[in-house]
Amino acid sequence: MSMIDLRSDTVTLPTADMLRAMTSAPLGDDVFGEDPTVNRLEETAADRMGKEAALFVASGTMGNLLGLLVNARPGQEVIADADSHVFRNEAAGAAMVGGIQVRQVPTERGVLSPAQLLAALRPTDDDHQPLSAAVFIENTHNWHGGVAWSEQDLQGISEAARSHGLAVHLDGARILTHPPPQARMSGPSRSTPTRCRSACPRVCAARSAAYCAGQPGRSGKPHAGARCWAGVCGKPAS
Ligand SMILES: Cc1ncc(COP(=O)(O)O)c(C=O)c1O
Repeated sequence: MSMIDLRSDTVTLPTADMLRAMTSAPLGDDVFGEDPTVNRLEETAADRMGKEAALFVASGTMGNLLGLLVNARPGQEVIADADSHVFRNEAAGAAMVGGIQVRQVPTERGVLSPAQLLAALRPTDDDHQPLSAAVFIENTHNWHGGVAWSEQDLQGISEAARSHGLAVHLDGARILTHPPPQARMSGPSRSTPTRCRSACPRVCAARSAAYCAGQPGRSGKPHAGARCWAGVCGKPAS
């Protein structure tokens, strides 16, 4: 009897074709922009997410860390769902590397409403409080069982954030796998990658693909990202 391991979507292994593609991929020095495979991956990612450019990083955690570092300064705050991956599962990288605080807002299904965002905003005239710099959205949501944001919810939070000068970062670890029609939804129309383009200036998307690198942490796995994912962080399209 063959068993299907449902602990995580990350326990899957590459097929023979995928292994062959990896070992025969044309390579070069990426520092000089001369790795044709990385270049193609970045161009494809930028194209699929409707962004001006994309940057290959070795894990989703690294992609989110870039999203933190470009959107907030040390001493500032990013607002995220209390069960977000960036808060729960990224080894406090926001605080450790960026000096950034994650403000955790409890939500029912991982979908932050404009009202919840506004209630979490810090005043700008109180020196005792950190400034709110950005909102982190997770679509689909890992700890809420794969809830997919609706297009309306995404637009709503994005507009609310931007009207208060906040940056918007989308943690789209699974955004390239369109949620199936029966997926748990936050509203009537699901947010596909294309629909996320305008709502989210910066996106971290991932594909189960690459090998990870970094220093082993407590469990022997790298802090910079645990598993075999390739992340991209897009610049806003002009
Ligand atoms: C929503 C979400 N963001 C980020 C990550 C981090 O990805 P990685 O394990 O490649 O660092 C994951 C991993 O499962 C995730 O589910």
